[in-house]
Amino acid sequence: MKSRKRTRSLILGILCCLMMGSATAQADAPLNGTQPAQWRVIWTADPATKATISWSTKEAGSSHSVRFRVKDSDDRLAEQLAESGRYTGGEFESYYHHARLTDLQPGTAYEVQMVSDANESPVFYFVTAPATDRDFSILHGGDSRSDQDARRRINKMIAELVESSYDNDDLSDDILALAHGGDYIVTGKKMELWSMWLSDHELTTSSDGRLLPIIPARGNHDKGKPFNEVFGFAEDDLNYYGINLSPQVRFTTLNSETSTAGDQAQWLKAELKASRDSNRWLLTQYHRPVYPAVKTPGAGLVSWVPLFEQYNVDLVCEADGHNIKRTVPIRDGKSDETGVVYIGEGGLGVPQRTPKTDRWFLESPGMADQGHHVFVLKFTKEALHGTCLLLDGTIRDQFTRPVRK
Ligand SMILES: [Fe+2]
Repeated sequence: MKSRKRTRSLILGILCCLMMGSATAQADAPLNGTQPAQWRVIWTADPATKATISWSTKEAGSSHSVRFRVKDSDDRLAEQLAESGRYTGGEFESYYHHARLTDLQPGTAYEVQMVSDANESPVFYFVTAPATDRDFSILHGGDSRSDQDARRRINKMIAELVESSYDNDDLSDDILALAHGGDYIVTGKKMELWSMWLSDHELTTSSDGRLLPIIPARGNHDKGKPFNEVFGFAEDDLNYYGINLSPQVRFTTLNSETSTAGDQAQWLKAELKASRDSNRWLLTQYHRPVYPAVKTPGAGLVSWVPLFEQYNVDLVCEADGHNIKRTVPIRDGKSDETGVVYIGEGGLGVPQRTPKTDRWFLESPGMADQGHHVFVLKFTKEALHGTCLLLDGTIRDQFTRPVRK
């Protein structure tokens, strides 16, 4: 079965090359002149109608834009100019380009091509978030900072997962996006390391040219200016935001690397209050765990957990610990079936630590282990199904959260 899938991928790859020039040949190539590279789609605001298409060039160039239109249509190609600048971060010189697409149609595939001066990227495509209450899946993971070989293998696995999720008529397994819980690289001020991560991120692109949107959270190793430049945030943005992945799934990203109290906690309260009644599923992600399997709890334990419990958040996605964990449902500091489940803690390319399995919140029906991994989160009208996949494709954990009545 596996070898048949590989053969299919190979054929698709060859077809793709023939149709789009050198799409696969260029993946993961070093930065060169003003040739667009390090392509990515970023979701930080209303992904049904908006997306940021970003790329990098080695040299500054003078004009940068994205050509786009509904995929497989005869529409005239539209052009969106990019915001460009030099990435901050050491002596390594490279330039970012962010084209912000707005007024898109929900649940629609768009072909995109990045153009810097006279140089064109391959033609890719991405799909906007649905405006209908349909079943779907996303990926969640964190910590890709310190094992590049594993990171690259995980990224290739992600591309295969995405591709195979569209290889059937089952809508519920369709992977819409990757939520990354932070610690992309080990030293956030070194652009050279970001550049390696960005090139490796190209490996998540499916062989038919599908770009997997990323929903970014900031980790403690992602200090400095490059994070906002890589993900298209404003220079002073504090990196907490909420987006709807469908009309019934609200996904809120928090920043554990700035004050978790004060403005952010107030914002979170308003965000959850406004979202709870109008969404079947409420999820949050951030970097530092509040119910950690290895370290001590982050400040979110005090600032955020009472709000998670008050507004009945359905699942919390954490990172930073470098292990696999799923807590029991927690309310008021103890196991409670009506409580909140926390998963994590980062395995997208980082050496794994040994979890402290005797912590009460990891005991059965919770779990903890170690291994490179990514979570698949499937949203249906009846339940939220989570699967922790190891790098060899083994399922390490599965869980289900019911719809809250
Ligand atoms: Fe971390």
